[in-house]
Amino acid sequence: MIILKSTSEIAAMRRAGQVVARAHELLKAHIKPGVKTKELDALVEDFFRKEGAIPAFKGYRGYPACICASVNDEVVHGIPGERVLKEGDIIGVDIGAIVDGYCGDAAWTYPVGQIEPRAQDLLEVTEQALYRGIAQMVAGNRLTDISHAIQSFVEERGYFVVRDFVGHGIGRAMHEEPQVPNFGPPGRGPVLKPGMTLAVEPMVNSSDYRVRIAPDQWTVYTLDGGLSAHFEHTVAVTEGEPLILTAL
Ligand code: MF3
Ligand code: CO
Repeated sequence: MIILKSTSEIAAMRRAGQVVARAHELLKAHIKPGVKTKELDALVEDFFRKEGAIPAFKGYRGYPACICASVNDEVVHGIPGERVLKEGDIIGVDIGAIVDGYCGDAAWTYPVGQIEPRAQDLLEVTEQALYRGIAQMVAGNRLTDISHAIQSFVEERGYFVVRDFVGHGIGRAMHEEPQVPNFGPPGRGPVLKPGMTLAVEPMVNSSDYRVRIAPDQWTVYTLDGGLSAHFEHTVAVTEGEPLILTAL
């Protein structure tokens, strides 16, 4: 069942979304060569504590940290730790917060210092793919109009959309119905209605869509060792334009 949110519930989700957006702002300034991914996690956890927000990921199915930090060929769900960022890396950071019982969820992939043009292009295409998907979040469209917009844009640019992980409905729970694939034909699935809130999150690989899960049972890697990028916003369908709840 898809849970439609009232205007006041969307306002609450926006408060959660704003905490997530500000956590990303804070992080951005700290992402540079020499920093350990666990230091980024600590930064966000501290910020959440000051804001009175609950980390949505920590403890979720036993996940041990506040953020996911996925470097280079890590697609999603990298666990922060002793890894030291180096010049030329890219790092996907996924952050989720609960405020007044409602969730916000957003991911961004950041360059570490100067990165190669090919990596830069992958980031730009994945970010743009996210906005192509969001642009389809208009009442009356069908769910997979989002999916198709993302896949067609990504493949036009010569990249590959991950199949094994998808976006999702979000609200009081981080994961609600429906699933939001980043691939597939348009015009299928539920009709989008005002009050639907979705986390749209393309994961884009540079050379092969396939992935594998590490022995830690969390970290998802590209199968072929190629680079991967991930961008995500929590977005509400309204009577008009889509409302991005995790944008500042
Ligand atoms: N944004 C991710 C998702 O929606 C975050 C889940 S990470 C987890 O699936 F650690 F919480 F599982
Ligand atoms: Co998500």
